[in-house]
Amino acid sequence: LPAEAGQLRIDWADGLMPVLRSIRARFERERPLDGLRVAACLHVTAETANLMRALRAGGAEVVLCSANPFSAQDDVAAALGSHHGVEVRGRRGEGVDEYARNVAALAELAPHITLDDGADLVGFLHAQRPELVGAMLGATEETTTGLVRLRALEAAGTLGCPVYAVNEARTERVFNDYYGTGQSALDGILRATNLLLAGRTMVVLGYGYTGRGVARRADGLGASVVVCEIDPLRALEARMDGFEVMPALAAAERGDIFVTVTGGRDALGPRHFERMKDGAVLANAGHFDVEIDLAGLRGLAGSEPVAVRPLIEQYDLGSKRLYVLASGRVVNLAAAEGHPADVMDMSFATQALAVAALARADGSLAVEVHAIPAEIDREVAQLKLASMDIEIDALSPEQEAYLRPFDHLP
Ligand SMILES: NC(=O)c1ccc[n+]([C@@H]2O[C@H](COP(=O)([O-])OP(=O)(O)OC[C@H]3O[C@@H](n4cnc5c(N)ncnc54)[C@H](O)[C@@H]3O)[C@@H](O)[C@H]2O)c1
Repeated sequence: LPAEAGQLRIDWADGLMPVLRSIRARFERERPLDGLRVAACLHVTAETANLMRALRAGGAEVVLCSANPFSAQDDVAAALGSHHGVEVRGRRGEGVDEYARNVAALAELAPHITLDDGADLVGFLHAQRPELVGAMLGATEETTTGLVRLRALEAAGTLGCPVYAVNEARTERVFNDYYGTGQSALDGILRATNLLLAGRTMVVLGYGYTGRGVARRADGLGASVVVCEIDPLRALEARMDGFEVMPALAAAERGDIFVTVTGGRDALGPRHFERMKDGAVLANAGHFDVEIDLAGLRGLAGSEPVAVRPLIEQYDLGSKRLYVLASGRVVNLAAAEGHPADVMDMSFATQALAVAALARADGSLAVEVHAIPAEIDREVAQLKLASMDIEIDALSPEQEAYLRPFDHLP
């Protein structure tokens, strides 16, 4: 039965999420979300299911829709509905129209707090139902791309509620973007292609937090890594980290596998496709499916692509064939299972504590994009260390005084 299979996956993930488990136990005792409606537009995975359970344990009424029309795990959605009292809208392969309807349906519930991975739900509320935004306690945002959208609203003076930038928490940057995407993007590429990375050249476009995780893990599997950047400092970092750095046009001729992770659009386009080798594989680990210009690729090929394996489309350019994974959608979710549960444990613990902080503030937070409070970062890291039986030192009073020389001044 789908719900039973989904529950097994949720339990497996739960076993790997000790931080969120301890927060769930505390929420059960303290009920910080009693009486609140929480709507989440997140990837429907077993890890997300455990975040939903924590919010339910805190007393919230919880609804969830998928943050990507193609990645929802239907068995997990079934288990959330039947075993945990969480209504889920969205199914794998629902398509963009149904996806938009699901987002709209969640918005209509007039949530007190929203959780997003790409700002689609809170963005819809701002665009279509601004009067509901004014009544919200706030929102949390899980990804870089969503924050770009929300900061644009802030800059335009149209942001309507406080937002916690979960994506920029210290724990999130290190665990989610670097370790999480680093491993899971490669996992998606390997599951789809079963290629041996050793001996191949992987081109990573974008050396942000996520890109450097992809580059480092590919290096660990024996690939020769080439990095393309537009930011001089990050390009320099990539070189100092031991990778070759060059413009994308030069890298186009070198790469066997290309991974875009820029957060922008058209990192790879016709100029690059023309120079690529026969058999080159193209994948995207950035949030939106606009990093590889597929319309441009179709134009060059002059015909529709052919599915040659699940999740691999072949574009025949006459002199050569290029292979696109998961139609350019975010590869670690479309071709694998997203981040490992251990990684999402940290992100979702931060999410849960950020939601509780919004509830506690009860509307008193300024309407702006806020950094995650340092106490939340510290609490999540402490809980994770405790779960790993790792103890660390604390400063002596003398050391603290030395580090804060102005504390005693009036
Ligand atoms: N797949 C996942 O699970 C996952 C996880 C986290 C973030 N993301 C997404 O990955 C993308 C990148 O996120 P990030 O946190 O690393 O962002 P970031 O801003 O830290 O890094 C992006 C880098 O790409 C560079 N860049 C921009 N345009 C470029 C171009 N055309 N060519 C080469 N380099 C270019 C920028 O200079 C920057 O250094 C975003 O879309 C984000 O939402 C995906």
